[in-house]
Amino acid sequence: MIHPIVTHPDPRLREASRDVARFDDELARLVDDMFETMHHADGIGLAAVQIGVMWRVAVMQVEDNPQRVLVNPSYESLGEPMSLEEGCLSVPGVRDQTKTRSDRVRVWALDQTGAPYEFEAEDLEAACVQHECDHLDGHLYVDRLSTLRRRRVLKRYEQQRETEA
Ligand code: NI
Repeated sequence: MIHPIVTHPDPRLREASRDVARFDDELARLVDDMFETMHHADGIGLAAVQIGVMWRVAVMQVEDNPQRVLVNPSYESLGEPMSLEEGCLSVPGVRDQTKTRSDRVRVWALDQTGAPYEFEAEDLEAACVQHECDHLDGHLYVDRLSTLRRRRVLKRYEQQRETEA
């Protein structure tokens, strides 16, 4: 089922999500719905909070990498900071350059059955891991921009929303 995506400035995007404790049909359905919603929106990653569910779950499908289900994820930065043009389905219509994403990360997570696994991600997929984990902590990529860039991109975003309203 495709869900509406929660957009900035919805306060839920600023809350930390809770660890998943039950690996049941409800979680499996959530993961299915998240992939469907993400693909429908042409996204490469989606966190549960973006459809209003405050659990630490993210899904990703970046380039030729496998589909990833990240439940209760954590990561360690292994690489160097990179510059990257980032966007977010919850801040639609604008993009901007972040400069602090690590270009390589080691990720630990559970899958939807509760089985632990780990993998290394590079470049865009590494950035996606960091972006989605930020969502689970109540952060948006715009928080990673310089003050000047953040003001500018949010102003563009607000102007665009006014035009659409
Ligand atoms: Ni996002």
